[in-house]
Amino acid sequence: MTSSIKAGIIGCGAISQAYFNGCKLFRAIDLVACADLNPDAARAKAEQNNVRAMSVDELLADPDIQIVINLTVPQAHAKVSMQILQAGKHVHLEKPLAMSVEEGAAVLKLANERNLRVSCAPDTFLGSGQQTSRKLIDDGYIGKPLSGTAMMLGPGVENWHQSAEFYYKKGGGPMFDMGPYYINALVNLLGPVQAVTGICTKGYAQRTITTAVNFGKVIDVDVPTHYSGNLVFSSGAIITMMQSFDVRRHKHSSIEIYGTEGSLVVPDPNTFGGPVSLYRPGNEDWSQCALTHPYKDNSRGMGVADLAQAILEHRPHRCSAELALHAVEVMEAFEKSSESGCALVTIHHSCPRPAALSPRQLPSILS
Ligand SMILES: NC(=O)c1ccc[n+]([C@@H]2O[C@H](COP(=O)([O-])OP(=O)(O)OC[C@H]3O[C@@H](n4cnc5c(N)ncnc54)[C@H](O)[C@@H]3O)[C@@H](O)[C@H]2O)c1
Repeated sequence: MTSSIKAGIIGCGAISQAYFNGCKLFRAIDLVACADLNPDAARAKAEQNNVRAMSVDELLADPDIQIVINLTVPQAHAKVSMQILQAGKHVHLEKPLAMSVEEGAAVLKLANERNLRVSCAPDTFLGSGQQTSRKLIDDGYIGKPLSGTAMMLGPGVENWHQSAEFYYKKGGGPMFDMGPYYINALVNLLGPVQAVTGICTKGYAQRTITTAVNFGKVIDVDVPTHYSGNLVFSSGAIITMMQSFDVRRHKHSSIEIYGTEGSLVVPDPNTFGGPVSLYRPGNEDWSQCALTHPYKDNSRGMGVADLAQAILEHRPHRCSAELALHAVEVMEAFEKSSESGCALVTIHHSCPRPAALSPRQLPSILS
C-alpha cells in the first residue's frame, strides 16, 4: 500500500514556510513542488526547501500531485480551490474556506460532484493543548459544559505583516482572520453551533503599515474590526466571544469553559501546545494539567497529513469542509445579527464534531 501522497503548494508568502517545515514531520505527505502568481516567490521557496518551482498551471497539470495546499490570500481561496478541484486534485487550504457561505457552498458542491476532498485550516485543534482539553471535557472533568468565553483581542497586524492590506478587506478583519481558530477549537470541544447573536463595529477608518517594507502605507479599513456576541451550541452551552483588532492590551484568557463540575482554561487555539488549567470544587486553586497528547510545537501541516492519511485509509478527515463552511456561516452570522439589531441568527450548515485523536493512536496515524 502507498504510504504517502505527493502534494504541492500554491501561494509562497509569509505562512508557506510553516507548511514546508510542518509537512516534513509527517510521513503521509510528500511535498514536491510549489507555485505562486509571483514566480520569484515560488523559485525562492523551492530553492530553500528543495522542491520544484512550477507555474500554477504546471503544478495543476502534474499527474503525480494529488493534494494541493492553497496558501493564497483569503480573497483568492475559493477561486484557487475551485481551480484545484477542476484539475482533479484534493485541496487543503488556509482559513477561511471562503469569504461568504455562498462562495464556500459552491466549493463543497464542486468537490462532491468530483468526488474530491476539501480540508481547511486551522489544524491547531489537532495539537496537544486542544486535544488534552477535549479529553478532559469528554472524560467528565468539568461535568456538563454550560458556558464560557472565547477572546482574541489585539491591535491588528500592520505592525508585523508587510502586506497587511488584505486583513482589512472583505474576507479579512479579526473575525475572518482569527475566528476560525476559535470556532474550530470550540466545535472540537463542544460540538456544532446552533445560533449566533452579535454586534460589530470599526474602531479606526484607516491603518498605517509600520513594517520596514511598505512603512507608512495607509490602508482603508473596509471591514468591522471589533466583534462581540454569543454562540449558542446545539449542546445548550453558550459561549461569549469577542474578536478584535481594536484592543491595545487586555488580561483575558483565550478560551475558558465553565461546566457543572468545574472550569477549564483552554490554551490559545492559534498554538499547538498548552497550558491547560483545571479547577474543580474542593481544590484550593487552578491546577495545571499534564498534556495527554503529542504535537505541542508548531505542527502546521498536521491537517494536511490527516487528510492524506484519511485518503489512504478511506476514512473522514478532521479539518473537514463541513466544519470550514460551518465556521464561515458562524462568522457571517455575527454581521447578519449586527445588521438586524442583534437578532438571534440560526446556523443552517451544521457539521459533525471532528473525531478525537487518541494519544495511543496518534503516532501511527500521523507520524
Ligand atoms: N502570515 C501568517 O502568519 C498566517 C498565519 C496563519 C494563516 N495565514 C493565512 O495564510 C494565507 C496566506 O497568508 P500569507 O500571510 O502567507 O499571505 P501573503 O500575502 O504573504 O502570501 C500570499 C501569496 O499568495 C500568492 N497568491 C495570491 N493569489 C494567488 C493566486 N490566485 N494564485 C497563486 N498565488 C497567489 C501571492 O503572490 C503571495 O505570494 C491567508 O489566508 C492567511 O489568513 C497566514
